[in-house]
Amino acid sequence: MKDKQFLMIPGPTPVPERALLAMAKHPMGHRSSEFSAIMKEVYQDLKWLFRTEEDVFVYTSSGTGAMEAAIFNLVNPGDKVLSLVMGNFSERWAKIAEMRGADVERISFDWGQAVDPDILRERLDQDINKEIKFVTLIHNETSTGVTNDIQTLVGIIREHGALSVVDGVTSVGAIPVKMDEWGIDVIVSGSQKGFMIPPGLAFLACSKKAWQVHEECKNPSFYFNFKAYKKSAAENTTPYTPNVSLIVALRETLNMMKEEGLDNFYDRHARLAQILREGVRAMGLRLFVEDDAVASRVITAIYPPEGISVPDIRKTLNNEYDIVVANGQAKLKDKIFRMGHLGYVSERDAITALGALESSLLKLGYDAKKQAASVK
Ligand SMILES: Cc1ncc(COP(=O)(O)O)c(C=O)c1O
Repeated sequence: MKDKQFLMIPGPTPVPERALLAMAKHPMGHRSSEFSAIMKEVYQDLKWLFRTEEDVFVYTSSGTGAMEAAIFNLVNPGDKVLSLVMGNFSERWAKIAEMRGADVERISFDWGQAVDPDILRERLDQDINKEIKFVTLIHNETSTGVTNDIQTLVGIIREHGALSVVDGVTSVGAIPVKMDEWGIDVIVSGSQKGFMIPPGLAFLACSKKAWQVHEECKNPSFYFNFKAYKKSAAENTTPYTPNVSLIVALRETLNMMKEEGLDNFYDRHARLAQILREGVRAMGLRLFVEDDAVASRVITAIYPPEGISVPDIRKTLNNEYDIVVANGQAKLKDKIFRMGHLGYVSERDAITALGALESSLLKLGYDAKKQAASVK
C-alpha cells in the first residue's frame, strides 16, 4: 500500500510526524537568533541524552563522519591503537585508524559474540610500557545484533590509561549510555538511529582527558575540527552551515524523548527485543545471537529456515506487507536477516512484524505453527 512502508532496518528508522512537520517548514538562517535559540536547546538536550557535562558536537555528516572526526582529531600517525572487533562496524574504527597511519592492532571476536572483558584486560596488562594510546570499541554492533558491556570495558581501559573511543551509533537513545559516570572518553552517534530523524547529522562528545590528547594532535581535521566545534557550541551555533531542517526536527524528537523519559524508552526497546526474540523462537526459527544477555535491544538477527533464502524473505515482507528488513552484512550476507526495532517503534509494530514474518514464511513454504507444534 502506498505510503505505508515500515522501515525495520537499523537505520534510517521511522520518523514521527512531529519531526516530519518541523522539517516541512522553510529552512531558517543558521546565524539568526531564532536558530541559535533552537541550537541552545538541542545542545542542552544532547548533554542530557549522552549523560554528560561535556559539549556534544553536531556534525553535518552521517555517523561515519563522527567516527573519522574522533580519529583525525586525536590520533597521530604512528600512535598505537587497539581495536576490539566483533563485526562490520567495530572493524570500521580499525580501518579509519589505519587510514590515519596509526599502528593498529585488532583483537577479533567471533561475529555474534560480545567482547570478552578478560581478554581485553589480559592484553592491556601486558602493555607495561603503555604503548597503547587508544582503544576503539562499539557499544551495539549493528551487523550482528550484539551489545557490549561498555561500562565494564571502559572501566578496564581507564585502569590502563588509554583513551576509550566508543561507537554509540545504534545505542544512544535506545540503550543506556552514561558517558560521564562510566568514564567514556569519546562517543559518537548518528541521527538516523535512536534520534528518530533522517540521516545527515552526527554527534560526538569527548572527555576532558580526550581534549588534552586532542591538544597534542599535530594535524587535526579541518571540517570536523574539535576546537571549531567547541567554540561554536559555546556560542549556540555551528562553525559551518548545518542542516537546519534536521536540527529543527531533532529539537522535536529530543522533546519527545524527554516526554517519554530516559528509563521508559530504554525499557521500551528492551520489550521490543523481547517480543521479537520470543516470537521468532516460537516460530521455530534460530536466532543468530542465542545468548539473551548480550542480545541487542535494537536489532534482532535471524537465520532463515532451511531451504528458504534471505532475499525471498525480504522480498515477500516488502512486497506483501510493506515491511523492509535488512540482509546480513559482509560475510553474513544472505546468511541472516536483521529486523531493526530502533527509535520510533512501538510494541504494536513489533507484533505486526512478527505476524507478517509468519505469513511471509508460510507463503514461502515454511509453516511456523506446524513447526512449533512438532517441537512441543
Ligand atoms: C554501529 C554503527 N556504526 C556506524 C555506522 C555508520 O553510520 P553511517 O552509515 O551513518 O555513516 C552504522 C550504520 O549503520 C552503525 O550501525
